[in-house]
Amino acid sequence: MLVALLPGDGIGPEIIAATMRVLEAAGVSGLTFEQAPVGGAAYKAKGHPLPPETLDLAKRADAILFGAVGDPNCDALDRHLRPEQAILGLRKELELFANLRPAKLFPELADASALRPEVATAIDLVIVRETNGDVYFGEKGHRKTADGLREGYDVMSYNEAEVARIARVGFETARARRGKLCSVDKANVLETSQLWRDVVIEVSADYPDIELSHMYVDNAAMQLVRNPGQFDVIVTGNLFGDILSDQASMCAGSIGMLPSATLNSANKGLFEPIHGSAPDIAGQDKANPLATVLSAAMMLRYSLGKPDDADRIEAAVAKALANGARSADLGGAMGTVAMGDAVIAAL
Ligand code: NAI
Ligand code: MG
Repeated sequence: MLVALLPGDGIGPEIIAATMRVLEAAGVSGLTFEQAPVGGAAYKAKGHPLPPETLDLAKRADAILFGAVGDPNCDALDRHLRPEQAILGLRKELELFANLRPAKLFPELADASALRPEVATAIDLVIVRETNGDVYFGEKGHRKTADGLREGYDVMSYNEAEVARIARVGFETARARRGKLCSVDKANVLETSQLWRDVVIEVSADYPDIELSHMYVDNAAMQLVRNPGQFDVIVTGNLFGDILSDQASMCAGSIGMLPSATLNSANKGLFEPIHGSAPDIAGQDKANPLATVLSAAMMLRYSLGKPDDADRIEAAVAKALANGARSADLGGAMGTVAMGDAVIAAL
């Protein structure tokens, strides 16, 4: 099976290198890796953040292991050429619409959570975020108002098919877990959210065994901190899911711990940590590689049919943490390489 390896920018190459060493040490069989540039690195090498060769590799591959994109040196570029367009382009071109973001606290990390330990240990949830629609992909532009003021706009929209397919992923995910789905929207204010809520309720007819609830996004942000243990699966749109999943990560210890999978309807996926390229710590052997290691485990489970290898790698991460492995974001002093070594030793 072919895995497209897209390290990207900033800490991307460092965390991918550590993850590759873990995969090698785990002795996962039958995988071939092919690497290609993406993001700012690809812009510098090829003049585009998602060059045709990279997109072609992503399409040919059985799964994509992605580091991160984003480079402060590219801030002045036209929006279409910015590194971040690479991840948006991959999601759109491969119809990767279902972004699964599990947030679970490793018990060993209760001290690293932003929450009180008794609240933090209750976190065990999955955010199912839609990633093919919403303001990220609606019409965008800037114009002058009638009064001559500069104005920017991004259209927020979802059609019923887009909502129905992500709702189904939410219900199925809940069915494989504790059977509770909370749909998060802003239906008190947004037309898009009103349709979202109507369609989720329609789809729920096919899932009578799932306990469905609805919550406004502002309340959801508050509840995630107050009592995260109430959530099993959250299904939400692209923008709300982006924000809530960063928040959930901090409840679960560190942004450096949270993996993600973004799947299409054939269960082909792109696997990446939820964090970005962290330019502030890039090239200094400071980044925590565990979110990427755990993303590779999700890849083995969801797209490559190797759940046993996934289990082994996740168990090794837990063991490394239990043995005291801590990078700076977890309150320790270990670097990227040492964190990778700790997982390998635990394997
Ligand atoms: P970020 O996630 O890169 O960093 C936020 C903070 O968390 C920073 O202080 C960083 O040092 C820390 N951090 C992130 N990952 C870490 C890790 N593995 N270990 C230890 N500390 C870690 O978000 P920020 O700063 O908002 O964005 C930086 C760049 O990344 C921007 O260009 C942004 O657009 C891009 N980005 C890319 C994403 C992607 O590739 N999917 C996702 C989010 C942001
Ligand atoms: Mg984000």
